[in-house]
Amino acid sequence: MKHIALIPAAGSGSRMASLTPKQYLDLSGKPLIWHTLSALAKVAELDRIVVVISPEDEWWDSFDWSGFARLEVLRCGGASRAESVLNGLYAVQAAEDDWVLVHDAARPCLDPALVSQMIAALTGHPVGGILAVPVADTLKLAQAGQHIAHTHPRDGLWQAQTPQMFRVAQLAHALATGMGPDITDEASALEKLGLQPQLIMGSPWNLKVTYPQDLRLAALILVAGQQ
Ligand code: C5P
Repeated sequence: MKHIALIPAAGSGSRMASLTPKQYLDLSGKPLIWHTLSALAKVAELDRIVVVISPEDEWWDSFDWSGFARLEVLRCGGASRAESVLNGLYAVQAAEDDWVLVHDAARPCLDPALVSQMIAALTGHPVGGILAVPVADTLKLAQAGQHIAHTHPRDGLWQAQTPQMFRVAQLAHALATGMGPDITDEASALEKLGLQPQLIMGSPWNLKVTYPQDLRLAALILVAGQQ
C-alpha cells in the first residue's frame, strides 16, 4: 500500500490578476509550486509525488525539476479542480487501496511534519480525512446590498485545508458520481456518499495563495520558517 501525493496545478489563477498561473508566480526567487513540492519532498512516507498540469501548460518545462526525486508530471488537468484531481486519479496507475494525499499547488507553506502526522493518524482509517483549522472569526451571512442577514454560529465550524487523504478508488468513485459546482474539495465528494472524513488539526500558516497580497504573506511565512 503506497502513499501518493497528487498536486492539482492546472488552474489559471484568475483571482491573482496575472497572466501567469499563480503556481508559477515568483515566490522568494522560485516558482510558487517549487516550495509546495519542496515541502512534500521532505515527507519520507510519500512514495510518489505526482503533479497534474493543464495539457496547454506553457510554463512547467521552462523550470528545472531534476533536483526532485519521486516527482512525476501528468498533463491531464481539467476545467475544474475536481476534474483535474479525477483525471489525475485515472491516469496515476495506482492500486485501489493506495492512499492519495491531494494537496493544492497553491499552498506552498505546508509543514512536512503535519503530513507525516496525518499519515500516521489516518492510515488504517475506514475513510480518510483532511487538514483543517477551527474557524476563529465571527461569521455573517450577507444578503443583497451587503447587509447582514444573520450571524452564523461558529461552534463546530472548521476551515478545510489540504492535504486531503483518501483511498484512490474511493475518491475516484466519489468524484465521478458527485461531480458538480458544490464539490470544492475532496472531502465534500466523500460526504456526498454519506461518509464522514476525519478532521486533523492543520495550521494557520498553511494558507492558500489566492489573491496578490497572499504572495507577500507566503514569502514572510517561508522566511520565518513558521511552516
Ligand atoms: O483556484 P483554487 O485556488 O481553488 O485552486 C486550488 C488548486 O487547484 C490550485 O493548485 C490550482 O492550480 C488547482 N486547479 C486545477 N485545475 C483547475 C482549477 C484549479 O488543478 N481547473
